[in-house]
This record gives sequence, C-alpha cells and structure tokens, in this order.
Amino acid sequence: MTSLDIGPILEKFPDAKRDSLIPMLQEVQEKFGYLSREAVIQIGDYLKLPTSKIYGVATFYNQFRFQPQGHFHIQVCRGTACHVKGSAAVLDAVRRELKIEPGQTTRDGMFSLEIVACIGACGLAPVICIDGNFHASVTTQKISSILDSYRKAAQE
Ligand code: FES
Repeated sequence: MTSLDIGPILEKFPDAKRDSLIPMLQEVQEKFGYLSREAVIQIGDYLKLPTSKIYGVATFYNQFRFQPQGHFHIQVCRGTACHVKGSAAVLDAVRRELKIEPGQTTRDGMFSLEIVACIGACGLAPVICIDGNFHASVTTQKISSILDSYRKAAQE
C-alpha cells in the first residue's frame, strides 16, 4: 500500500454520504498518521465534496493533522490538572521555541506538536509526553533544555 492508496478505506464506505466524512478522515489518519492533500482530494472525489469543504470540516476538529509527524512527537497535556499547573504557558513556550502550531511539524521534520486531553499522569502536572516519555512538572524555562536533549539524541 503506497502512502496515497486510500482505496481500501474508501471501499469500507460503499454508500458514502457526507455523514461518512469524519469516520473516513479518522481511518485515513489512523492508517497514515496524517491527512495528505492527495487523500483529501480522493475523499472529495469519492463523496463529491469540494476539498475546501473537507478542509473546513477537518480543521474544525483538533484531532486531524495535515503534515506527517516529526521524528519526535510532542504531546502537551491540556487536561484540567495540567491546566491548573500552567500548561497553557508550557504550550506557548513549545510553540515559540519550535515556531509551529499544534498539528504542525517543524520544517526539518524533527518535531511535531499535538494538544492532548489528560494523559493519566495528573500527579506529575504539568506534563508533556515526547515519543512516549513523560516529562513531569514542566516549566517554560525547562522547555529549551528538554528539546535540546532530543536534538542531541537525534545526532547520536
Ligand atoms: S490533566 Fe494532564 S495528565 Fe491529567
């Protein structure tokens, strides 16, 4: 299956109507990690919807990505416990440091960023998770050194 071959997913929706759009987008993202432009065009052809309409719907939901994940995928928890402990400032620090928004990937492909709901580590709030590694009690001051440690690890 090439990265563009979403045919088997489309076939699961033989009588596809507009209601099928979200489940289709979810399946494609689950399979490929993101929604490529080609996938959006193919879904549009299949559902007879303009791509602008599909992007409009998909961008409404935070869950969809339009770029492949980075070498390291950063999840910033925005659940209640993390929010109370300052996760908004942590998220801002990551955005500033990497110059990307949630759902985007850095130009060098090194990092991608996602906002997530509670990741079950509230006692460590605020938490960010990078490739499955939890970083506890994160502060805005710690962000640079945390990201640097991953940059270094990528060079080794
Ligand atoms: S709210 Fe962030 S881990 Fe639970």
